Amino acid sequence: MSETPQKRLYIKTYGCQMNVYDSERMADVLRPLGYGIVDEPEGADLVVLNTCHIREKATEKVYSELGYIKQMKTRKAQAGGTMTIAVAGCVAQAEGKEIMHRQPAVDLVVGPQAYHQLPELIARAHRATGERLSADFAADEKFDALPAERQVNGVTAFLTVQEGCDKFCTFCVVPYTRGGEWSRPPEQIEDEAKRLADQGVREVTLLGQNVNAYDGGGYTLARLVRRLARIPGLDRIRYTTSHPRDMGDDLIAAHAELPELMPYLHLPVQAGSDKILKAMNRDHTAESYVRLIEKIRAGRPDIAMSGDFIVGFPGERDGDFEKTLELVREVGFASAFSFKYSRRPGTPASAMPGQVDEAVKAERLDRLNALLDEQQKAFNALQVGKVMPVLFEKKGRNPGQIVGRSPYLQAVHAVGSEDLLGQIVPVRIESSAKMSLGGVLDSHAIPEPA
Ligand code: SAH
Ligand code: SF4
Ligand code: F3S
Repeated sequence: MSETPQKRLYIKTYGCQMNVYDSERMADVLRPLGYGIVDEPEGADLVVLNTCHIREKATEKVYSELGYIKQMKTRKAQAGGTMTIAVAGCVAQAEGKEIMHRQPAVDLVVGPQAYHQLPELIARAHRATGERLSADFAADEKFDALPAERQVNGVTAFLTVQEGCDKFCTFCVVPYTRGGEWSRPPEQIEDEAKRLADQGVREVTLLGQNVNAYDGGGYTLARLVRRLARIPGLDRIRYTTSHPRDMGDDLIAAHAELPELMPYLHLPVQAGSDKILKAMNRDHTAESYVRLIEKIRAGRPDIAMSGDFIVGFPGERDGDFEKTLELVREVGFASAFSFKYSRRPGTPASAMPGQVDEAVKAERLDRLNALLDEQQKAFNALQVGKVMPVLFEKKGRNPGQIVGRSPYLQAVHAVGSEDLLGQIVPVRIESSAKMSLGGVLDSHAIPEPA
């Protein structure tokens, strides 16, 4: 179908969904220059590492990966070719100069707001003149300069609507790597969503570091969602990640009223002890979080709640950690992400007294995960016997099998024709495990006419 690209582009993505979106957009910027995506870095003309700075491990991974890529660059040079190495993303933003020092094989460094400058940076790297580091904060310029065309793969897509964070949780690097909160204009987002729908996308996930703080000139996130829900073909809308303090009444109402808005909400709470929440600068208490969930469930009782947790924040004692477990028991999560606190240079928490021993963090993480796993299995088991609409996305691992997502974002496997890919089909759920559900197509499930 597609011609062999003139130039081979390998992109490795770390971190959050916004990096996934950004990687796709970098490919869009580079495609007109003749770059096509390849699956392996060996022999590539351009290697981009789109990096994450959130925890120490994430950052260190980048440097070890760069060690391997450097060897490939040397091999290619010995064979008479060239490989350009670019570091993008949040590590690029946070430690741009240091990266070039620590790994001289890196040709250019580009921060998250400067992807539209990639062609120029690559040209400078090839000419070996000019600045090869760009880490400005100007998201508006970026979105104006990115090509309108997007290559979609599949029937679901991410769409960034908001970037940056003004919340300054004391543990977190994001306000420093992504800059202040900034929202794209609704018209620009609608235009991108329409193009996605025209290309067969049926579900979009709106992205933002604080997506529910979206403020598009009079448009709240709820109003934006309602506008996008009118786009023909776009049947499902999701958004992530939200902050409890920006969970407005209109968004809660949208969950109760709008069938296109999927009943899944990722709303990080981080901890259950008010003392720790205060030290984190979270601006919510355990109680206010629980009340908020009650309010959301009053309008949408079946909503799948998801969250992020940090264990071992400085000053967290056993009694504080027990409160996290209590909160989890009270809320009941359908899924969750939990992390050991990681000390990030330059953040206020890294200098706080009472840093917690790694072994204690590990033990708390195990206990928390055991409880969260139990809840996830229980939530999945609840679906057995129900018929639910599944958006089928791809072929499964076993022959004849197709895989999709339930409204609650669970993976659902069923035996069915590939003609059903891209369609929303009723499925009777027959089995459940921690990570997925199994079902059979409901007898009424016949492919929609093409
Ligand atoms: N903007 C989002 C996501 C931020 S990063 C939000 O406010 O929720 C995703 C998650 O990483 C956070 O929710 C937090 O749980 C975790 N995280 C951030 N900094 C961390 C650190 N220093 N150590 C461990 N986990 C961290
Ligand atoms: Fe980080 Fe807090 Fe902002 Fe989320 S809200 S990105 S955790 S500072
Ligand atoms: Fe990581 Fe940056 Fe996302 S630090 S989590 S890639 S915003």
